[in-house]
Amino acid sequence: MNIITDIKEMQETAIKLKKQDKSIGFVPTMGYLHIGHKELILNARKTNDIVIVSIFVNPLQFGINEDLDKYPRNICADTQLCESINVDFLFIPDTSSLTQNLLMQIQPSRLDQYLCGASRPGHFTGVCTIVAKLFNITLPDTAYFGKKDIQQLKIIEQMVMDLNIPVRIIPVETVREHDGLAYSSRNSYLTQKERGIATIVPDVINLITQQIKSHLGREEILNNALTFIDNEKLALVNYIEIVDEKTLAPTDDFKQNIVIAVAIYIGNTKLIDNRLIKYT
Ligand code: PAJ
Repeated sequence: MNIITDIKEMQETAIKLKKQDKSIGFVPTMGYLHIGHKELILNARKTNDIVIVSIFVNPLQFGINEDLDKYPRNICADTQLCESINVDFLFIPDTSSLTQNLLMQIQPSRLDQYLCGASRPGHFTGVCTIVAKLFNITLPDTAYFGKKDIQQLKIIEQMVMDLNIPVRIIPVETVREHDGLAYSSRNSYLTQKERGIATIVPDVINLITQQIKSHLGREEILNNALTFIDNEKLALVNYIEIVDEKTLAPTDDFKQNIVIAVAIYIGNTKLIDNRLIKYT
């Protein structure tokens, strides 16, 4: 496996690979890799000649009071994992070279009004800008994104479509621990006690799913979900929503494909999760 830190070297390498007609699969990450990331990489490995993984804790997508400085990092373990699953190139650009002196950014509209976009102003502008830059540097045919971050996935799909970026986006199922908690780099912030109650996140999604299937109305379902979380002192709701799959706007029309999306603080750690419910 090659480790590249220089932007120009990565881009020239990608140009060379394209000239040799190699297909490139790309997995952008912020590192501290876990089994969810691994699943994305294994998907890329299956169908591409070349797999590029990037690790970049992107300052553009963190708000001023967010966890940029303490975001977990372990380049050594990440390198070992990538090596063990035959990643070809690990791209680890340094922060200043990628984000300093930017006079232009990509700002999504509509899809970022709700859910995480509503509580993290500028977050998805930071995500889109960095992902577009990474696409321009690594020149992938295909890029892999987790369904765990459903709003991010939708916004990237929209960006690629609206800006005619020639990259195919492949959504990958959320990978979960044995008790249903979705893998996340931020799970490492949880104390043992907090980890014990963190299953409240998938549990509340299960509760909402059951109540949708029992034909309860939106208001009653959301109130029941809030009460369920209120019973746990260490948990605090950021949002619990039922949204339209296409627009991500809140909906009470459950005869469409809908997404149950939640963001819940367990202590100081914000965990997000979601489930798509297809109308059948
Ligand atoms: P990061 O949080 O490191 O996630 C990288 C990719 O892994 C994202 O596509 C995310 O949805 C996916 N992922 C995370 N947890 C997962 C799980 N349990 N199962 C399946 N996939 C999972 O998302 C980002 O980084 C950044 O915003 C980034 C796209 C790299 C831009 O900076």
